[in-house]
Amino acid sequence: MTIPGLAGRTLLEPDELSSMVRKFGEAISADHPDGVVLVGILKGSVCLVADLAREISVPCAVDFLALSAYGAGGRRIRLSKDLEADVAGRAVVVAVDIVDSGLTVSYVRRLLTERGARSADVCTLLDRRPRRLLPVDLRYIGLEIGDEYVVGYGLDFEERYRNLPMLVVVEPEALGQVPEGNDAASRV
Ligand code: IMP
Ligand code: MG
Repeated sequence: MTIPGLAGRTLLEPDELSSMVRKFGEAISADHPDGVVLVGILKGSVCLVADLAREISVPCAVDFLALSAYGAGGRRIRLSKDLEADVAGRAVVVAVDIVDSGLTVSYVRRLLTERGARSADVCTLLDRRPRRLLPVDLRYIGLEIGDEYVVGYGLDFEERYRNLPMLVVVEPEALGQVPEGNDAASRV
């Protein structure tokens, strides 16, 4: 698939993402026979949550939260959209696109623990350990990557490319020169 204006290397094709997500669903269902609350962190997890929810065969509630970064270098995080579900006493699986510094996932796990979740496991498509600032325990990991920037399947560069059906490694410097309108959204 050629995307006008997007030069990059395909990291995972759609069928590879499907089988990865199917395995997540099987593992999550086996580990949580009583059911789970699947919590997506917006917006990067939207594709993962939509596909993963359909691969989970135990009772599954779906909810979302959103965070925003602030402060020097965006190193502080606050909740910008809260959950609707009461997670007290429930098994939660947090779905994320990528764990980078680990700040986001650490914040969310602390929040869930404070609210009395019985467990708070993390399911991530990508794990970029070289950039970790906080240690985090990840239960379901799709692929470990190095210091590369990835777009597609929910992951964006300045709000573009979330709609790509595959994951692509790109050079953000090169993307900055893509003219408006010559992006993935203009394909449809
Ligand atoms: P963390 O708090 O540093 O672990 O940040 C994770 C968030 O940063 C992810 O949920 C993504 O939304 C965003 N992010 C980090 N790396 C990438 C990337 O390579 N592509 C797109 N978004 C990314
Ligand atoms: Mg982003």
